[in-house]
Amino acid sequence: MRIAIIGAGYVGLVSGACFAEFGVEVCVVDSVVEKIEALRGGRIPIYEPGLDKLVADNAREGRLSFTTNLAEALDGAEAVFLAVGTPTRRGDGHADLSYVFAAAEEVARTAKQPLVLVTKSTVPVGTGRRVRELVQAARPDLQIDVASNPEFLREGSAIGDFMRPDRVVIGIETGASGERALAVLKRLYRPLYLIETPIVATSIETAELIKYSANAFLATKITFINEIADLCEKVGANVQDVARGMGLDGRIGRKFLHAGPGYGGSCFPKDTLALAKTARDFGSPVRLVETTISVNDDRKVAMADRVVAACDGSVAGKTIAVLGLTFKPETDDMREAASLVVVPRLVQAGATVRAFDPAGMDQARPLLPAAVQYAESAMDAVAGADALVLLTEWNEFRALSAVRLKGLMRGDVLLDLRNVYDREATQQAGFRYHAIGR
Ligand SMILES: NC(=O)c1ccc[n+]([C@@H]2O[C@H](COP(=O)([O-])OP(=O)(O)OC[C@H]3O[C@@H](n4cnc5c(N)ncnc54)[C@H](O)[C@@H]3O)[C@@H](O)[C@H]2O)c1
Repeated sequence: MRIAIIGAGYVGLVSGACFAEFGVEVCVVDSVVEKIEALRGGRIPIYEPGLDKLVADNAREGRLSFTTNLAEALDGAEAVFLAVGTPTRRGDGHADLSYVFAAAEEVARTAKQPLVLVTKSTVPVGTGRRVRELVQAARPDLQIDVASNPEFLREGSAIGDFMRPDRVVIGIETGASGERALAVLKRLYRPLYLIETPIVATSIETAELIKYSANAFLATKITFINEIADLCEKVGANVQDVARGMGLDGRIGRKFLHAGPGYGGSCFPKDTLALAKTARDFGSPVRLVETTISVNDDRKVAMADRVVAACDGSVAGKTIAVLGLTFKPETDDMREAASLVVVPRLVQAGATVRAFDPAGMDQARPLLPAAVQYAESAMDAVAGADALVLLTEWNEFRALSAVRLKGLMRGDVLLDLRNVYDREATQQAGFRYHAIGR
């Protein structure tokens, strides 16, 4: 079986490599020449644990190839996955679907044989229908079935998530077209059937909404515990114990109950916004999600204020070491990271920011103020600093010795915005320790 994937980003690359690992012949297309050249030369343009090996193994076996030439990728493909970006559209918060529609139209115009066009990108309800109309208008002569197959992988554990997902959601049309699409997707996902992965086969509209609902729910869960954390600080409770006590209830679950500086990343911020916009357009607002969005936006700003407050009301002339810039550990993705709000505010307030991130510094540089300094290591970042702010909980930061850190610093302020350090140990080392909600 042969398939094509349009888009060599986080989702396209991981899906392509994993389908190849399942034994499928995969060709991944991207319009960015440098990306494809890098991939052909064995270099992975993103940081995702395990991806380099998976790509190398499958490329060597001849199951995974890369091209900028769509016709070459479509040659003999039974299914074509759209894994292009759907960022927030400038100005109104809707998802920008221009990449999806452009790619769908290119596929339709280029295809020579019948195929299933599967949207893996996260797209608002109604997009699948519009893709079908567009494809039919472009190629009335060719049988192109459309389907929706939203992706739930998490950056940082993307390969495991793809290979052992909680479920696979497949949205299809009614009738023969849907049956053909489902048959092809079932063949592709056969290894997951064998490990008894639940398959949710539904309409395209439902599949599209499942993806947004799941992300909005998780974003709301994070935002909920963040607000509870603030309350904990006021009443002298401990948010980690509250989260544990809540999360052990099977109806609630323990995941996504970690208080922090507000959610970021390539998905939650844009997907919550797009869902809220779509819901408004349909006259059925999702006010809970709208509130989540504004609480989360405010929270990132509040984190910068916290740093200033912890530094006795001013960071002017002070050196702040920032550990972690990416929106979460084990990725180089900087999209909507809390650092993008916190760091510029500290610089604006007169601080010298010296930052270190194990994977995200190249991506961070063009996004952060030019005045930010980048360190070679965590220790290099904290040397001589007045305050230390932990923004992303990379494992290597968890293991740092409080005594050693304190010994290197000029000041004694430690803001642990991810609740990874032990209060007693840091205080014994001489820090004024500030955590979230405890
Ligand atoms: N990143 C995640 O963790 C994640 C998880 C689940 C779902 N998603 C969704 O998957 C989609 C892709 O996300 P991503 O993070 O992989 O995006 P990305 O920006 O990393 O990658 C998109 C790629 O598509 C390429 N592209 C765009 N138009 C093209 C065209 N016409 N032809 C060829 N290539 C084209 C771009 O050059 C880019 O390399 C989004 O809708 C996103 O919401 C992302």
